[in-house]
Amino acid sequence: MAESLGTWKRSHMNGSLREANIGEQVTLMGWVQRKRNLGGLIFADLRDKEGICQIVFDTDVSEEAFNKAEGLRGEFVIAVQGEVRRRESINENIPTGIIEVFASELKILSESEVPPIHINDDDKAGERLRLQYRYLDLRKPKMQKNLIFRSKLNKAVRDYLDRNSFVDVETPVLNKPTPEGARDYLVPSRVNPNKFFALPQSPQIFKQLLMVSGLDRYYQITKCFRDEDLRADRQPEFTQIDIEMSFVNENDVMTINEGLIQHLFKEMLDVDVKLPIDRMTYREAMDRFGSDKPDLRFGFEIKNLSEVLKESGFKVFSGAIESGGSVRAINVNGYGESFSRKGISKLEKFCKDYGAKGLAWIKLENGEVNSPIAKFLTEEEISGIISTMDAKDGDIIFIVADTDKVVFDSLGALRCECARKLEILDNSEFKFLWVTEFPLFEYDEDEDRYVAMHHPFTSPMDEDIDKLNTDPGNCRAKAYDLVLNGIELGGGSIRIHQSELQAKMFELLGFSEEEANMKFGFLIEAFKYGTPPHGGVAFGFDRLCMLMLGLDNIREVIAFPKTQNASCLMTDAPGYADAKQLEELRIDLVVEEEKTEE
Ligand code: AMO
Ligand code: AMP
Repeated sequence: MAESLGTWKRSHMNGSLREANIGEQVTLMGWVQRKRNLGGLIFADLRDKEGICQIVFDTDVSEEAFNKAEGLRGEFVIAVQGEVRRRESINENIPTGIIEVFASELKILSESEVPPIHINDDDKAGERLRLQYRYLDLRKPKMQKNLIFRSKLNKAVRDYLDRNSFVDVETPVLNKPTPEGARDYLVPSRVNPNKFFALPQSPQIFKQLLMVSGLDRYYQITKCFRDEDLRADRQPEFTQIDIEMSFVNENDVMTINEGLIQHLFKEMLDVDVKLPIDRMTYREAMDRFGSDKPDLRFGFEIKNLSEVLKESGFKVFSGAIESGGSVRAINVNGYGESFSRKGISKLEKFCKDYGAKGLAWIKLENGEVNSPIAKFLTEEEISGIISTMDAKDGDIIFIVADTDKVVFDSLGALRCECARKLEILDNSEFKFLWVTEFPLFEYDEDEDRYVAMHHPFTSPMDEDIDKLNTDPGNCRAKAYDLVLNGIELGGGSIRIHQSELQAKMFELLGFSEEEANMKFGFLIEAFKYGTPPHGGVAFGFDRLCMLMLGLDNIREVIAFPKTQNASCLMTDAPGYADAKQLEELRIDLVVEEEKTEE
């Protein structure tokens, strides 16, 4: 039977006792990490969020406590009272290793069945089990460390923004859809039959309206919801540090926000981020790294071989160039020996997932050129490739010929894949980059129209405003992303603050006037009453935590995350609604009949 706490009060956390406490009477509480029965003595490691303390049950001190302790098992919750003594054999691995507590009284507050996962940082339990028993998984010291870090990071963000006159304003969760590009989560409205709220993909429109209201500097650390394909750095509900400022240009927003980043890294990790953070245009990032979020921890930059190969007899190359594409390559310099034929054919397969038709390669080893395509190329072409790629003995060059899109996509991904395979990525190195001058639009092949690359409220660059009508595909935006180690940490823009330009933008994006008015009429209307130029940014708070802690999945910094298919293994959400609820909401379900395999 579990006992009650009675009048007992905890005097110390388990990790806090030191040599100076020797001789004191203490009351400790926590979970039994493990118990060893050595006959006349029982040792138990007592754990709480701050650490571990060794408890000794000794018949000489208390027979009653000793007898009770015989029944202890892992994860029992207990309280002990006793005296702090010096340990005979010191454990240098834990901060409390110099002392132990001799228990004079023991209360068993709660018993535990054998837990399905080990409460231990070395636990090997699979992801599903960890998520199903998340409350146990969160008992692990490293998970607690992650959540505590997250909490302190949240405070550090608030400290900096508060000091810089930002006002924390809460915005609604029940909304009209906001266009961030993912699918919305919809919530039916009972009192407004047939109508739905959308959960916010971001507070974008509200933060802009707060600028119209004159709040001047807004921030919020808030949940956003997006129904999109999930990956290691994406969850259906996640947290943003959302920021908006008035009377600013791109440079102002980037400057104050890199100050935030510098503050956070100093405060939390004692890492000095050198300011200003490097900036690179989208065009340059794509050309050199095949990505708008380049990982700058390593080189292997993409170079253009089209000039060298445009007249090649090897049709795979010259043909791609003739039809408007290009031949480009990366030099994985110094690592030629690390790639076997088998390894290379895996990389070829990897590139094919990005649309490449093949992956040509040239190794320079022992003064010789080793390449399956050497026989198709002239000596001049080979030496042209080698000099363009700045290659030397020991290097390996990977070449893709295709449309520019396929070439950049596949080589961009390949350079990262090579770095991963070679295990040269150091998670304690932080390489930041602002990527600027994004295209305003991207062409959506499926819908056969332009869509906003960032969102429809992003302002075109002043220099490119003429292109809105004549050449929208080449119109650049006042938009910027902050990239850290190849991951998009945040993104933002200067917004359109003129109602005519905003209306024009909706038109270019294919909204009819009626549709634009229905969806965003209130915003266009608001802009008519005195709107300051404004802009902002939003950082992925989960991603920031993950990267600062050197982890590679945001689930590790989210207390109760969802699985790949957006469900919760612990609560079994989402669930079915009962008939009465559906009736009240006037929702009829179309139940698909289960398809049987043939
Ligand atoms: P954006 O859509 O770029 O911009 O989002 C900002 C940042 O939020 C993080 N993020 C995510 N994190 C985890 N899971 C997800 N599914 C997910 N989606 C996005 C990323 C991303 O950089 N309203 C604009 C910001 C602005 O213009 O001010 C916005 O939401 O780190
Ligand atoms: P093939 O003549 O098609 O057998 O190709 C000879 C070599 O060129 C193989 O190593 C292929 O992987 C490579 N290759 C084929 N198509 C391409 C391409 N589009 N880009 C780069 N390499 C290619």
